[in-house]
Amino acid sequence: MVVLTYFNHAGGVAKTSTIRDVGYVLAESGRRVLLIDMDPQANLTKWLGVDDDIELEETVYPAVIGAADDEDPAAEADLALPSPRRVHGMDLIPAHLNIAIIEREILSVFMGVVRLREAVRRLDGYDLVLIDPPPSLGQLSALAVVAADRVVVPLPTNRKGLDGIQTVIKMVREYRKAAPGLDVALFVLTQHDRRTRHDRESFEIIAAQLPALAPISSPLSSRPAYYSDAQVQGMPIPVYAPGSDADREIRQVASELLAALGEKTDGGP
Ligand SMILES: Nc1ncnc2c1ncn2[C@@H]1O[C@H](COP(=O)(O)OP(=O)(O)OP(=O)(O)O)[C@@H](O)[C@H]1O
Ligand SMILES: [Mg+2]
Repeated sequence: MVVLTYFNHAGGVAKTSTIRDVGYVLAESGRRVLLIDMDPQANLTKWLGVDDDIELEETVYPAVIGAADDEDPAAEADLALPSPRRVHGMDLIPAHLNIAIIEREILSVFMGVVRLREAVRRLDGYDLVLIDPPPSLGQLSALAVVAADRVVVPLPTNRKGLDGIQTVIKMVREYRKAAPGLDVALFVLTQHDRRTRHDRESFEIIAAQLPALAPISSPLSSRPAYYSDAQVQGMPIPVYAPGSDADREIRQVASELLAALGEKTDGGP
């Protein structure tokens, strides 16, 4: 089992879209995939078509804080993840706005930051666990990244992408204190608009500099209509538009991810 957290503290860089689509492709290829939505926005949950009321007990909450009705949740031993939902061939631990309270409650738990890491490591029967954190450097993100074996960094090929790289690298080093061996498995290039010179130039800079740190994927092109329609339909892109260029690009990135997992480089950032 490999646990991957899609980490970039910057908002709107396609963390959630990439988890949804790459997770789908990996599940379709026969791998057993668990998705964990750690974002109170619950986009991953909604974009996979789960739009009914989610109870706190169905989220990561019981695994990191304890049962919601527990008198002394912090004292609970052996916290477990709840039974997942089944969506598009994947298992999903959904999110809800209310998981935001974990940000505060986890602070009173001794060594709370490793709670998700421990709960995930007690799981059985998955090949891949993909975790989707919120766009922040708060406790939910720390829980998510510390739970990982390796980090996947979605990166738009533009100024916003370039600006965030230093912080991403610095934070991976920080989180490594609680997650031994944590490194960047792959930079996934997202929202690439090759028609603009700005994106082409950003891509050139990324391609010249980042491979020294970790492999970079081939770019996922910017396709606003596909992505917003797929969200409304509650479908991964390969289900919404099978055989399309968007579908082909995602499959390419999924195979590049598998290659990156197979050939773990020494050192890293
Ligand atoms: N290849 C793409 N082409 C066009 N739009 C895209 C593409 N990938 C993602 N988007 C859009 O960009 C927005 C941000 O994507 P997404 O929510 O996946 O990013 P995120 O990093 O998870 O955001 P957040 O930080 O809010 O969690 C969404 O509206 C999504 O539809
Ligand atoms: Mg997101």
